[in-house]
Amino acid sequence: ITKLGILTSGGDAPGMNPAIRGVTRYALDKGIAVEGILRGYEGLLRQESILLDQRSVGEIIHRGGTMLRTARCEAFIHEDAQRQAVDFLRSKEIEALIVVGGDGSMKGAQCLSRLGMPTITIPGTIDNDMPGTEYTLGFDTAVNTVLQSVNKIRDTAYSHERVAVVEVMGRHAGFIALHAGMASGAEAVLVPEHDVSLEELCNRLYESHQHRKLSSIVIVAEGAMSGSDVVSYIKEHTYLEPSLTVLGYVQRGGAPTALDAILAGLFAQKAVDCLCQGTVNVVIGLLQNRLVATPYTETDRMHFSIDDNMYNLLHQLGK
Ligand code: F6P
Repeated sequence: ITKLGILTSGGDAPGMNPAIRGVTRYALDKGIAVEGILRGYEGLLRQESILLDQRSVGEIIHRGGTMLRTARCEAFIHEDAQRQAVDFLRSKEIEALIVVGGDGSMKGAQCLSRLGMPTITIPGTIDNDMPGTEYTLGFDTAVNTVLQSVNKIRDTAYSHERVAVVEVMGRHAGFIALHAGMASGAEAVLVPEHDVSLEELCNRLYESHQHRKLSSIVIVAEGAMSGSDVVSYIKEHTYLEPSLTVLGYVQRGGAPTALDAILAGLFAQKAVDCLCQGTVNVVIGLLQNRLVATPYTETDRMHFSIDDNMYNLLHQLGK
């Protein structure tokens, strides 16, 4: 292989920049040229790209977001658009494409692979909800951002003797809620993977209040329900005083943690090594602490979910 392309797609995630840097410098070191596609799949359709050299990826390892920019491209579900993208990549003499993004971005990569353009996906989404890996770039940073915020919110909840309801991201998964909840000692987390009974939640909060626990933290994954619904329910059904914080986009930004930056480098190396060995149409991942490459065709059958033991333990410890 003499030239590869790289793009970032979907929601930005801390770790995308170190991944771009890793792919670019490791590939160049092997004599492979690197073309950076701008704005994800949209950039493929708009034919926006830049040739990257070592210096183009300088001063980005510590930055959140993505220097290549990103987009959510609805038009890319159409085969016409995908064919157009393959034509553009070929016109640039790009022999394979590395996609850094979440599940939807991987599906886009899979479509290009089917049309004859080899691709490799590096998992990058704060939500951690991808098959083929126990860990996606950005997740650790997001969890730490939530942890810092909850620690601050806890001060106020304690001082005012309130129930602090904190809504976090995770449209389809409760990884951020669970991990941040575990780390911050939340009394309860509401996640899409488990049926949410607000009655049970209120009973639990009420009971602990009776046992002299005068403040509580409840973390709600947006995919389970909205934080404001939780607050309204608590207000209506108890005498407790709930407050609401919706953390929003602070969770997507910021400098990647050491773990995210290190793993980005290792994922990048694995992706380029796979390309060189002809192992393509795979998603890179970390499974049981080992770097792996799983064929897209196997990912449909792979089950992944939050750790049920951690979910139960969090509630046991939050009493
Ligand atoms: O990156 C994933 C995610 O953070 C989801 O948890 C969230 O629902 C979504 O992106 C929102 O992003 P946007 O507003 O960019 O579509």
